[in-house]
Amino acid sequence: MKPRITITREVFDDTIDFLQQHCEVDANQADQPYTPQALAERLAGQDGLMCALTDKVDAALLGAAPRLKAVANIAVGYNNIDVTACTARGIQVTNTPGVLDDSTADLAFALMLATARRVTEVEAYIRKGEWTGWKLKQWLGVDVHHATLGIIGMGRIGQAIAKRARGFDMKVIYHNRSRVAAEIEQRLDAAYRSMDELLAQSDFVVLQMPYSPDTHHLIDAKALAKMKPGAILINSTRGGVIDDAALIEALKNGVIRAAGLDVFEGEPKLNPGFLELKNVVLAPHIGSSTEATRRAMAMLAAKNLVAALIGGAPPNLVNRELLPGK
Ligand code: DGY
Repeated sequence: MKPRITITREVFDDTIDFLQQHCEVDANQADQPYTPQALAERLAGQDGLMCALTDKVDAALLGAAPRLKAVANIAVGYNNIDVTACTARGIQVTNTPGVLDDSTADLAFALMLATARRVTEVEAYIRKGEWTGWKLKQWLGVDVHHATLGIIGMGRIGQAIAKRARGFDMKVIYHNRSRVAAEIEQRLDAAYRSMDELLAQSDFVVLQMPYSPDTHHLIDAKALAKMKPGAILINSTRGGVIDDAALIEALKNGVIRAAGLDVFEGEPKLNPGFLELKNVVLAPHIGSSTEATRRAMAMLAAKNLVAALIGGAPPNLVNRELLPGK
């Protein structure tokens, strides 16, 4: 008998075709997010779950899913999943690292360029028909090239951002829980700094560390006050690493120059204060959203799930202590 799986959100047809070769698939192509209760009911007899960051996989949900053996997240971040509870139940958890690094790094750069050169402000101005002609001092921005870029979180995506920065002749500094290998620092021409040094020295601060209780509100009013007055803050990782209310105050009061945000605390709701500000560029969590990358993420999640359920080690197992022999 094939294992039974539930997919919580719409995926591409080729992902479903692949999964149907191996599993009985309960898909949600209408893409109406399930309430926790609806998802719990669907999982009562299921062996596998393919989910997204919009689904909370916690102890209560696991309690309603006695047969569940594997959870495949269609994301590299997995803060929506209680991995400890899954591990205690022997449930394998997988994510999708690697396939989204370049697209997410591109978006971080798009936000840097858009904030520095005021792209969304000038677009709105032109659309309103307000442009009457060229002026020397019109819409002055700041340079990205030759500026100092501070990256917090030097994993794969942070490194992809650092690689792009070389093409802009930027000076790259970084902070990470632990220093990366000397070979990586040399290849990327990136220098390690303490948090405070990085905040004080960077023209652009890009957040790319995972969200966890340790990184909750890492950028709060105190951290913002340590940044250069003309600095620009970019968040392309997860909402919650910034105290959004404190950021709005900092943007209003000129504590920093601007922010480019792809993620928000409590998204898709966002603090209405952001909508009143001109010096913020907002995006709806699209860091990895190119057709090629989202297809690759969905297929990688599907392959992880099938490997976990049919045998063999899933390529991207998060709770590696569940590997046989560990
Ligand atoms: C991820 O992979 O964690 C992204 O945020 C999903 O869009």
